[in-house]
Amino acid sequence: MTATLQQWQSVFDTWADADPNVASTGVPQSDLELDALARVLADWLQLRGDEVALDVGCANGVLTTRWCRRARHVVGVDYNQRLVERAQQLVGDAPVSFQRADAAALPFPDDRFDAVCCYGVFCCLPDLEFARRAAHEALRVVRPGARVLLGGLPDARRRARFHDLCEAGGRWYSRVLPRRLRWGVKRLLRPGWSPDASGLLWFDVEDFAAELRAEGLLVEIHDDPPYADYDRYRRTLVVTKPATERAAR
Ligand SMILES: C[S@@+](CC[C@H](N)C(=O)[O-])C[C@H]1O[C@@H](n2cnc3c(N)ncnc32)[C@H](O)[C@@H]1O
Repeated sequence: MTATLQQWQSVFDTWADADPNVASTGVPQSDLELDALARVLADWLQLRGDEVALDVGCANGVLTTRWCRRARHVVGVDYNQRLVERAQQLVGDAPVSFQRADAAALPFPDDRFDAVCCYGVFCCLPDLEFARRAAHEALRVVRPGARVLLGGLPDARRRARFHDLCEAGGRWYSRVLPRRLRWGVKRLLRPGWSPDASGLLWFDVEDFAAELRAEGLLVEIHDDPPYADYDRYRRTLVVTKPATERAAR
C-alpha cells in the first residue's frame, strides 16, 4: 500500500461508523443532493434498466443504492473493507452486491459489465500512473460499445477555483480583505496549511481525455453537477469502449 493510499484509507475508515451520507464526500450530503447526483450518473451512463453494472469505489453504497434501480443488478467494489461491510449492512433490498477490490486490479473477466461507474474516486488515487491503470481496468471489464464514467476529477485548469473555495467558508476576513491578504491571514491562523495539502490528485482533464481519445476511445467531458461544490472545480469523463474492441488494451 502506498503512503497516499494509506493516508486516504485511514480517512475512509472513519466514514464507516459515521452518518451514512458522509461516505460520499466526508461531510453529510442531503438525501435530495445524493438523489439528484445519482440521477445524473444514471443519465450519463444511459442506463435503461436491464444492465449489469459495476460501481468502482462505492464506499458504503450511499450513491450505488440510489442509481442501482436504473439497472438490473450492480456490483459495488471498494478498497476499504470496513466500508464494504457497512455497505452490506445498509443495502436492504436494493439490487446490489458488494465486495472488496482494488480499482487497479479488478477481479472480473474482460467485457463482464454493461456499464461502469467510478465517481469521486480518482481524486484520491496515489498518482496519474495508478489512475491510468484504473481507467484501463474499468475499460477492460466493460463490454464493447458500453460506457465507463470516470467522475469528479479535480481539474488542474480549475485549481484557482478550489483555492477560492478553501479560503471562503464565511470567515469575516474573506468578505473584507482582497484575496492576497486573505491568504496571509489564513496562514497566520493555520500555519503551514494550504489547499495543496488536501492530498487530492489533480488532472489536466483535457489532456487525460486526449490520451484516451488517442487510443481510439470516444470521450465526453462534462462539468460536474452542483454537488458539494464539485461543479466549481471538477469534471467528469464518460468513455465509450469501441464496439470493435479496436482500441481497448
Ligand atoms: C470519496 S469516496 C466516494 C464514494 C462514492 N463513489 C461517492 O462518490 O459517493 C472514495 C471511495 O473510493 C475508494 N477507493 C479509493 N481508492 C480505491 C482503489 N484503489 N480501489 C477501490 N476503491 C478505492 C475509497 O475507499 C472510498 O470509499
